[in-house]
Amino acid sequence: MTAPLVIAVDGPAAAGKGTLARRLAAHLGLPYLDTGLLYRATGRRVLDAGADPADPVAAERAARALTPGDFTRGDLRNRAADAAASKVAAIPAVRAALLDFQRGFGAAHGAVLDGRDIGTVVFPEAQVKLFVTASAEERARRRHAELLAKGAAPALEEVAAEMAARDARDAARDVAPLVPARDAVLLDTTGLDADTAFAAAVRIVESTRRK
Ligand code: DC
Repeated sequence: MTAPLVIAVDGPAAAGKGTLARRLAAHLGLPYLDTGLLYRATGRRVLDAGADPADPVAAERAARALTPGDFTRGDLRNRAADAAASKVAAIPAVRAALLDFQRGFGAAHGAVLDGRDIGTVVFPEAQVKLFVTASAEERARRRHAELLAKGAAPALEEVAAEMAARDARDAARDVAPLVPARDAVLLDTTGLDADTAFAAAVRIVESTRRK
């Protein structure tokens, strides 16, 4: 029996990986999991409890208490949730608590998963690995536009600084840091619109699967 198709889409914040991964999943008829939501929901729970997202005990407790309702909250994508997610994500016990769910999700019927460590830790055997990136300036511009569309309008410089801090925390942590898997194909979306990036990703998936 052939293993179900798992596609890992990793990369830094606002590189376009969520949009890309969701479209790839629809195109291929695969389930899609935004693994960042697991960390965002964990961070949110810690904030609700009045605790510090960097506190390992509070953060692990929150990760182990997640229920489906935590993922449909409307406050998972604001700046407080961005920072809290990146802090809880640096805690090994939190990552361990969330690992089985991610593996189970992909193992059942195959899946497209996006995150930071899908191709390195969660599914090191994934048949296709994409590392989606874009320049720091472009990513900050995209995140700024996203926040503006939601009504919050911090200065672009402030968004860029917060993103740089989050990138640094995600890349410098000891467990599952943000690095491309050795066998990942790099896709730089700087200057590409969503359709062009999607077409490039489909070509990568098709050529990788043929190998
Ligand atoms: O993809 P995102 O921006 O929604 O992710 C939110 C935070 O969660 C991000 O700062 C890093 C963390 N994360 C992670 O460490 N590993 C993943 N697989 C997904 C997200």
